[in-house]
Amino acid sequence: MSLAVVIIDRTHCCSHNERIIQHGFRMTQARTLKPEEYTVETEPYYEPIGSEIEVFEAAWNNQLPVLLKGPTGCGKTRFMEYMAWRLKRPLITVSCHDDLTSSDLVGRYLISGGETVWVDGPLARAVRSGSICYLDEVVEARKDTTVVIHPLCDDRRVLPMEKHGELLEAPDEFCMAISYNPGYQSVLKDLKQSTRQRFVALEFDYPQAEIEQKIVIRETSVDAETARLLVKFAEMTRNLKGNGLDEGASTRLLVHAGKLIQSGVDPVAACTSAVSQALTDDPEMLQAVNALGSSVF
Ligand SMILES: Nc1ncnc2c1ncn2[C@@H]1O[C@H](COP(=O)(O)OP(=O)(O)OP(=O)(O)O)[C@@H](O)[C@H]1O
Ligand SMILES: [Mg+2]
Repeated sequence: MSLAVVIIDRTHCCSHNERIIQHGFRMTQARTLKPEEYTVETEPYYEPIGSEIEVFEAAWNNQLPVLLKGPTGCGKTRFMEYMAWRLKRPLITVSCHDDLTSSDLVGRYLISGGETVWVDGPLARAVRSGSICYLDEVVEARKDTTVVIHPLCDDRRVLPMEKHGELLEAPDEFCMAISYNPGYQSVLKDLKQSTRQRFVALEFDYPQAEIEQKIVIRETSVDAETARLLVKFAEMTRNLKGNGLDEGASTRLLVHAGKLIQSGVDPVAACTSAVSQALTDDPEMLQAVNALGSSVF
């Protein structure tokens, strides 16, 4: 059975939280799309950090699933958008949360107009359409979801849809990618060995200073000196990781600060609002991070 239409809402859809990309833009309104329309048509800007593009491409060519590890705001989602564009595959992203069940991924029967109809979940749609299915923060999802992805992520490459009495065989183009952050999640929520050992793993981190400056310039149009100072500030905050901060400033926060500066906000105020306040609520820590910002600008 093929899925004709699906109602997509950026924040909530049929209990899935999906982000759909069409024509290079994230949708902000409820729209009706077919899986083949979840395409990234404009090349997303992605600055390579190492050999991740080559490795992902090789994994995709060999039908191997991929695991992206790394801290928040370091480019994992941007990388997936770029790879979807590069490989010319639709990208279906599911942001996992602790209520996400296997039915949310695979599908369920719904009552529509007095009739019971089967509605594919995002994972089933991705398999049928040979898309890239990206499960963001996969360890947040309920445990039964891993049972569902296991047969898809080994050489069987099948999706058992028990409630629908169907066994979906994944086409070669289908790719499973998952992300998780080893730092934030508790041991209880760590990925099981039987899950992680099915994946080719790619480690992401904040890029080297020159590359990060390049990203900030490209994303915000600030001048080279401002980008250099923003990256310097970020590196200072990253040194506070484990000494009062759970995490230092991400590339994402630098992009936010750069955008504020580019809109005319004073650099110190931009660093406070976009970086310091985003990092911590602790008054002393806040003061310390703000002092770093003022010392740089
Ligand atoms: N290598 C990169 N090339 C281009 N832009 C990048 C890169 N790394 C980070 N960015 C910038 O940082 C922003 C945040 O990146 P992204 O959303 O991909 O982070 P993430 O790793 O998916 O974070 P999270 O784990 O919180 O979802 C991007 O929107 C982009 O502006
Ligand atoms: Mg992301």
